[in-house]
Amino acid sequence: MIVLGIETSCDETSAALVRDGRKILSNTVASSLEFHKKYGGIIPEIASRMQLETISGVVESALKKAKIKLKDIDLIGVTSGPGLLGSLLVGISFAKSLSLGLGRPLLGVNHVYSHFYANFLTGEKIKLPFVALVVSGGHTSLFYIRDFDKIEVLGETRDDACGEAFDKVAKILGLGYPGGPAIEKIAASGEFKKIRFNCSGTRDKLDFSFSGIKTAVLYYVRARRLSMGEKADISASFQEAVIDALVKKAILACKMKKVNRLVVGGGVAANRRLRGKLYAAAAENNLNCYFPAQSLCMDNAAMIAGLAHQLFKKGYRSDLTLTADLN
Ligand code: KG4
Ligand code: ZN
Repeated sequence: MIVLGIETSCDETSAALVRDGRKILSNTVASSLEFHKKYGGIIPEIASRMQLETISGVVESALKKAKIKLKDIDLIGVTSGPGLLGSLLVGISFAKSLSLGLGRPLLGVNHVYSHFYANFLTGEKIKLPFVALVVSGGHTSLFYIRDFDKIEVLGETRDDACGEAFDKVAKILGLGYPGGPAIEKIAASGEFKKIRFNCSGTRDKLDFSFSGIKTAVLYYVRARRLSMGEKADISASFQEAVIDALVKKAILACKMKKVNRLVVGGGVAANRRLRGKLYAAAAENNLNCYFPAQSLCMDNAAMIAGLAHQLFKKGYRSDLTLTADLN
């Protein structure tokens, strides 16, 4: 079965062709990131306008790379939310038109869930159930995945998302946007024990809070001229505190649910320090830990096509009333 996936939840326009929910035939991603950089964050109006201009070309290019004709598509999977409203509507409208024109079924897919599905696109055989940690620019969540349609929320952020905290701290330090890769890079030359930053505690043990640590960084640097060395130390200390909170809660979630499989996804999963520390903690606790390939951590349509395939097999369908779901 060949699924065309379409993903336009934030700054990217992506189309992918995936066979049987596992094999990526093509995965084309066009990003408008360059046009947002000078504003220090994503400007929704710029993102959706560029998506309108690029979506046809991106889908055509994905078909060409996969050597697949429109008539060979069996299902169209599209991100229906959460994300930016205007951006989501571009992808959804395009997917609906294709579905109607080709006479092929349509299925709206949750973007956050698709992030952990990225692990199933690289040949890994991961058994259900498992605990999933999704760390992105908009979400920080722990899930218990009984099946692809049986998902329990174990914990989530009470304020900022993890990637958002990286972005905001990078902005405070003048490191540019997106902040995650910039912090990771400069932190590599910093001393993570130099400054004691901590993530705030939360009432529910598996919830997260990142807004306090961001404010702590803000107060620490306020009105001071920082050398690159100081910026590196602040970045390393901040990154370490955030990663320690993620690792501690992810391991605790596995223990509480008595599962030995931990599956990670989302943009922050690209962070090498997080990968290293979580693999080590998992090994110490006899858990198997899975990360997607680096290229599949960031937003892409292959993960949408893959999850759409699994849900379609279970009987899920959308119709032409499909609209953006912002929750
Ligand atoms: O999953 P994603 O591509 O988009 C959303 O669904 O939000 O994640 C983007 C987020 C941004 O906040 C970015 O700063 C963060 O992922 N990110 C990282 C790294 N690469 C991207 N955070 C920490 N370390 C990284 N290497
Ligand atoms: Zn995402």
